[in-house]
Amino acid sequence: MSLINWSDALSVNNEEIDTQHKKLVNLVNALHDHMAAGDANEVIGKVLDRMIEYTAFHFQTEEKLMEQYKYPGAGLHKIEHKKLVEKALDLQKRFKSGQMQITIEVMNFLRDWLKHHIAESDKLLGGHIARAKAKSTVA
Ligand code: FE2
Ligand code: FE2
Repeated sequence: MSLINWSDALSVNNEEIDTQHKKLVNLVNALHDHMAAGDANEVIGKVLDRMIEYTAFHFQTEEKLMEQYKYPGAGLHKIEHKKLVEKALDLQKRFKSGQMQITIEVMNFLRDWLKHHIAESDKLLGGHIARAKAKSTVA
């Protein structure tokens, strides 16, 4: 069973960002499925690596858009990204050194973070870009 179900409620009104969020949701779901199936740490570690890599790529995309569209909320939004990256890298390090397992608590944290960040911060960014685009087509 999927940990996160994508629905239109998660859309931020921006195709590029939505497409990346769907992929991120798929990776979080894959990580959850491997964990729930009790798969080997080596397999779980690889999915974790992919999720972290893709997250970094996704944050870069959003941060480029923030600059391109002069987003006033960029400062706080970037801090949220940075905190998650630090947390994820710490998780990865502790998992690889055998200090911890990927548990349902870890998965619930990732799910909640992603859902809240998308529903709040990314939606504000998506709205800002949509308004900026609408203005530039009117002008
Ligand atoms: Fe974001
Ligand atoms: Fe995002």
